[in-house]
Amino acid sequence: MDTRKNVEVCYTPGEYEYFKGEYDLIVVIDVLRATSAICAAFENGIRSIIPVATIEEAQDYKDRGFLVGAERKGQIVEGFDFGNSPYSYMNEDFIGKDVVLSTTNGTKALSIASDAETVVVGSLLNLDALCEWLENQDKNILCLCSGWQDKFNLEDTICAGAICDYLINTGKYTSNEDSSIAAKYLYLSAWVNPLGYLKSSSHRRRLKNLDLNEDIKYCLTPNQTRVVPILRDGKLVKI
Ligand code: MLT
Repeated sequence: MDTRKNVEVCYTPGEYEYFKGEYDLIVVIDVLRATSAICAAFENGIRSIIPVATIEEAQDYKDRGFLVGAERKGQIVEGFDFGNSPYSYMNEDFIGKDVVLSTTNGTKALSIASDAETVVVGSLLNLDALCEWLENQDKNILCLCSGWQDKFNLEDTICAGAICDYLINTGKYTSNEDSSIAAKYLYLSAWVNPLGYLKSSSHRRRLKNLDLNEDIKYCLTPNQTRVVPILRDGKLVKI
């Protein structure tokens, strides 16, 4: 009998309904930049992050005195304290703080996954630590890519493919969906030079046009942290 668990890939939040309910553990991925910024925030000492899908929810928290970040289409939303750059968290003001964050795709993906048993945050920044933690979970895992406004994107898919490849190589997991197999092959061809491979990705171009090259380089540099953020009662905290 095959006792292996599944690790599969959903390319966009819009496709999540076709996977929903079959997986106990969801890894939400938004390499550029939401889940990378979240990992960077925890690496830099933040206490918790409340992800919210809409600007209205973010505004509501702001009105109640919370520290709130909001980003749409790569830019800080007017009236909010910060946006989605990992560098915004790299200062002492955030140490030990609870913040609220709303982003174009990443926090939307976190929100739609939030009724799953376990939801964790994945990025290239915490890739090895995340994979080592996932290996021992013995659960059916879905990597949910945030994409861009419900369209496929390369960077999230490559990160999901890296997770599949690692877990399949442990012998404890298998992938059945073509989306997962394709993600794995994309990762294998990209990994020789991820920065070069992603040169033409749509969101990389979008961020470059906004002069956010440093964010791109940071988010595409694997394994800069061992933190694995997990969603508990609507809040992301460090495992
Ligand atoms: C998102 O949530 O769509 C992103 O992280 C966009 C960005 O700020 O780069």
